Amino acid sequence: MNAGRIITIGLVSIFCVGLYLVSLFVPGSLDGALSYMVANGPVAAEQKSVFWYTIWVSAFLLVAVGGVFLYAIFRFRAKPGQDFNVPEQSHGSTMVEVGLIVVSCVLLLFIAIPNINALRFVSEVPQARKGEAIKVIAIGHQWWWEFQYPELGITTANEMHIPVGKPIDIEIRSVDSLHSFWVPQLAGKMDAIPGQHNTMWLQADKADKYYGHCTEYCGDSHANMRFFVMADEAADFDKWVKHETSNAVAPDTVEQINGHRVFMQGCNSCHALTGTDAMGVVGPNLTHFGSRTSLGSAIFPNDTKHLVDWLKDPQGVKPGNKMNLEQVNMVLSNTDINDLVAYLQSLK
Ligand code: CUA
Repeated sequence: MNAGRIITIGLVSIFCVGLYLVSLFVPGSLDGALSYMVANGPVAAEQKSVFWYTIWVSAFLLVAVGGVFLYAIFRFRAKPGQDFNVPEQSHGSTMVEVGLIVVSCVLLLFIAIPNINALRFVSEVPQARKGEAIKVIAIGHQWWWEFQYPELGITTANEMHIPVGKPIDIEIRSVDSLHSFWVPQLAGKMDAIPGQHNTMWLQADKADKYYGHCTEYCGDSHANMRFFVMADEAADFDKWVKHETSNAVAPDTVEQINGHRVFMQGCNSCHALTGTDAMGVVGPNLTHFGSRTSLGSAIFPNDTKHLVDWLKDPQGVKPGNKMNLEQVNMVLSNTDINDLVAYLQSLK
């Protein structure tokens, strides 16, 4: 290898390491809502610890192998005025070859064993804690998440509530393409694969609103397939469960009554409202839509402006989503939209 090539490789390596170091200081990369460097539960903590362990073992290997390499380059370089002699050539050394294979295998075991242990830990609620676990089925749809709590009789969307300090036993499914469930500060990623039920678990150690994101490319609105995990104190979670298991409230004002009528003329074929004739399963269950903080799969705040925008042009605000009013010949007048908003917001 000539000097020019060595210098080029050196410069490219320094550039790459520099780029990586700079990326660490981009706001949010280490402490942001989507950073797995902030672990707020045992599963995330285990993943973070095995990540750092693997990094340190790899760094040791890089320094050890790179160090010997650099030493050899400088120690045995051709010095000025020195005759260039090819050293005496030999073929093979059983001891060196077997030794290198053994050392490589041992080093791989050093990385493999903690990683396999971590994989086993994160894929299932620990045996001793199974009794207190709450079961949630997380189902990926293009492009939103459905959350079912089979033991509690709850079906909701895009905002998954859990009690702080309790293990949550999650089964991951998909109804269409591949998706992947990831809440960086709590756990993941786990793929959602049609026809397959994958498992994982998570636990939040402090009450907070955690960001989640689909992390497997799944089509037009993959980037818009977000969700929240709301970790509540025990009493708040119990209150939420009680509330979620109640039926949709009946419309009250003139606007709400008209909104309900419009809903039952089309929206009901895709959306369900528990306790009414609306039993659609294509879109999110809207029984308690008014009490959610976000809409459109956690991409907008759940306020009047965004709800109006959504109803006026769902394809414009979330390209490709299944709510295509033109396709189903649904024309909503401004009055319809106004009344639908009043009705949906009343569904607390
Ligand atoms: Cu679902 Cu990407």
